[in-house]
Amino acid sequence: MTSAKLIALATAGVLTAQLTAGPAVADELMDMANEFFEPIPATIPAVKDNPVTDEKVDLGRMLFFEPRLSRSWLISCNTCHNLGTGGDDNLETSIGHGWQKGPRNAPTVFNAVFNIAQFWDGRAEDLKAQAKGPVQAGVEMANTPDRVVATLKSIPEYVSLFETAFPGEKDPVTFDNMAKAIEAFEAKLVTPNSPFDRFLVGDATALDATERQGLELFIDKGCVSCHSGVNVGGNGYFPFGVVERPGAEILPAGDKGRFQVTKTAAEEYVFRAGPLRNIELTAPYFHSGKVWDLEQAVAIMGTSQLGEELGDDEVKAITAFLRTLTGEQPEVEYPILPLETADTPPPEAMEPLGQ
Ligand code: HEC
Ligand code: HEC
Repeated sequence: MTSAKLIALATAGVLTAQLTAGPAVADELMDMANEFFEPIPATIPAVKDNPVTDEKVDLGRMLFFEPRLSRSWLISCNTCHNLGTGGDDNLETSIGHGWQKGPRNAPTVFNAVFNIAQFWDGRAEDLKAQAKGPVQAGVEMANTPDRVVATLKSIPEYVSLFETAFPGEKDPVTFDNMAKAIEAFEAKLVTPNSPFDRFLVGDATALDATERQGLELFIDKGCVSCHSGVNVGGNGYFPFGVVERPGAEILPAGDKGRFQVTKTAAEEYVFRAGPLRNIELTAPYFHSGKVWDLEQAVAIMGTSQLGEELGDDEVKAITAFLRTLTGEQPEVEYPILPLETADTPPPEAMEPLGQ
């Protein structure tokens, strides 16, 4: 059945009538859910133009935790994408070089490999394109590709790790290969086996009655028209405020989303539908990071995207369902990083740039 048909059915109230709490009905809900969602695969997803090898992953792990990729030697990818706290920083918007506050909330790196493109506005095609951004962003790590390469080349252990990870290349220590190694590591940051995944692959008892009701509402009300696929989102772009644009306290006027990428007036305030995997771990919510309470975020989606004020019980049930999207967090061994040498460009002070 196509999504459009299902949504039409849902609106007609047919699904609600069909889906009550009994076990046979849980099976129907399971079939329905499998039309829209996919479980997180057990195998490491392939990435384009970058075979994922153990050598690359090991190097990528070191680089992910490597603060000397930043101008200050203080900030690593893990600063804002803390792998112990859901892969994000739990701040409204991120803080980077010189204590500057960035404009957007940090999304999680977990399962990012499944997103259609990276960033809230999808401006990076994939993870290797993405990884070059923060290293250079003035409000993040404030470094330059040349300085990063000089840093890595000054440390013999890194040179040999790049040689091993990129065999046969004449000059393997490059900014591009840094990004590829990080991408390979990130491809392994997936969180399988959540209760919802177990439900999708046939365990009817993996969700309790409230969670199943929440899933049913998620489909029935039409959340699923934007949040579907492996990541329950992250796979398409929509206006934030299809029906009713939230106020400036949640949707600040200055950030026009995909408009900044495509310069098309129709894409003002268009953002990528948030991937909802592990959503309970990654408050605060929305690109502005203005909402701390998941129930409130769900209620806002009801009014802004569906034009519907959801009842308290509906909000609670949907939120209970969203909590079943929390999977097994990747266990990552903290790497021991090689010592710098006299040739390593030294750290620079953390005053904001331009002061
Ligand atoms: C100062 C904080 C900060 C640092 C350091 C940082 N990031 Fe981010 N990251 C962010 C923010 C904020 C965004 C969202 C920006 C946007 O959408 O415009 C983001 C977005 C991402 C995304 C996209 C996820 C998605 O769902 O779209 C990935 C992947 C990512 N960062 C990986 C990295 C890697 C790899 C590094 C290290 C090379 C890094 N980040 C360093 C704050 C940071
Ligand atoms: C028309 C498309 C659309 C529909 C329908 C929709 N959403 Fe969203 N959702 C989005 C977009 C776009 C965003 C990103 C908003 C932003 O810019 O912060 C989002 C963000 C979210 C977030 C926050 C994600 C994060 O990481 O901060 C949650 C939670 C969410 N949606 C849940 C829901 C629920 C529950 C429903 C149904 C009641 C729903 N959505 C319906 C498009 C949609």
